[in-house]
Amino acid sequence: MSKKQTVTTITPLFSAETIGNRIREIGKEISDDYAGATPECPLHLVVVLKGAFIFAADLARAITIPCTIDFIHASSYGSERTSSGNVAIRHNLNVAGRHLLLVEDIIDTGLTMQQITAELRALQPASLKICSLLDKPEARKHPVAIAYTGFIVPNTFIVGFGIDHNERYRELPSLGILCS
Ligand code: IMP
Ligand code: MG
Repeated sequence: MSKKQTVTTITPLFSAETIGNRIREIGKEISDDYAGATPECPLHLVVVLKGAFIFAADLARAITIPCTIDFIHASSYGSERTSSGNVAIRHNLNVAGRHLLLVEDIIDTGLTMQQITAELRALQPASLKICSLLDKPEARKHPVAIAYTGFIVPNTFIVGFGIDHNERYRELPSLGILCS
């Protein structure tokens, strides 16, 4: 007996080279903006797991000022390709008085970023900005001020470069649109 198979294809969106070039540009912009950072008062990158892990690894190496790195875990998507409207946030951060840069993979409805920023602001950082590899402005329901954006993308489902669908495709070196 053969099971019914759905054919999934990925339409290329941004190549590894294009992504790498853009990350180097953002890294320079961030390094210029935080030029006053010192080893005693570094820029603190707060990486949103899991989706931003590859972006953050490249971004950290494109930043030329002193920085430190920490992680926060957020999950808002279930198995479907729509926002669940429920965000679970887990972290163990001590960020009072520090300059924070949240590093995210995609900003879609904006709910995840709104909840993470509310939670972090309550911990009284010195400053808080957002850097997102991708922005889907057409999907926005909750306003978010993004300081650094890699690429604006259409309201489609994107995978690759750390970004998954049901935990698949994170390992792909480029970004594409999942079609099925
Ligand atoms: P938001 O809370 O609706 O802004 O959703 C943000 C989170 O949903 C992102 O951090 C991603 O993890 C996930 N997400 C949003 N759009 C996509 C997509 O196109 N592909 C994979 N994950 C996505
Ligand atoms: Mg995410």
